[in-house]
Amino acid sequence: MAAMQWSVDFYTGLPEIDRQHEALFALVNRLHDARTHRNELLDQAFGDLCDYIRDHFSAEESFMDQASLDPAYVARHRAAHANFIMRINELWQAHRAGSDEAADDLLAFLVAWLREHILITDRKMAVAAHHHLGSDAPHNQFSHF
Ligand SMILES: [Fe+2]
Repeated sequence: MAAMQWSVDFYTGLPEIDRQHEALFALVNRLHDARTHRNELLDQAFGDLCDYIRDHFSAEESFMDQASLDPAYVARHRAAHANFIMRINELWQAHRAGSDEAADDLLAFLVAWLREHILITDRKMAVAAHHHLGSDAPHNQFSHF
């Protein structure tokens, strides 16, 4: 079974961000499938995921700058991205150092963090951006924020 299942719950209504999130899910699932291989397949899957995450975070961060969101919120959002990258690198180093559980821990962390980050932090960004741009958020699911 896939580690991450894409659904409309994750929509931000920002098409480029949604497209990138969906691609991110596919890369996490690829890492999930490769985790039993302690070889290049896993290295490659992790490397590709990290590259994509870095590009995606910079896309989100420049989007937030352009949408003139609250600077305090943007600073917290940027810090969340930076902490996430630090943590996945730590878990990857533990895996490289021979820890048997590190690949599973890494995957569990990735799945939990991405779900929560998209559902809460990124959707808050979307609400503020839609408000700023004068566009409608796509679903009334945003109303509970
Ligand atoms: Fe984000």
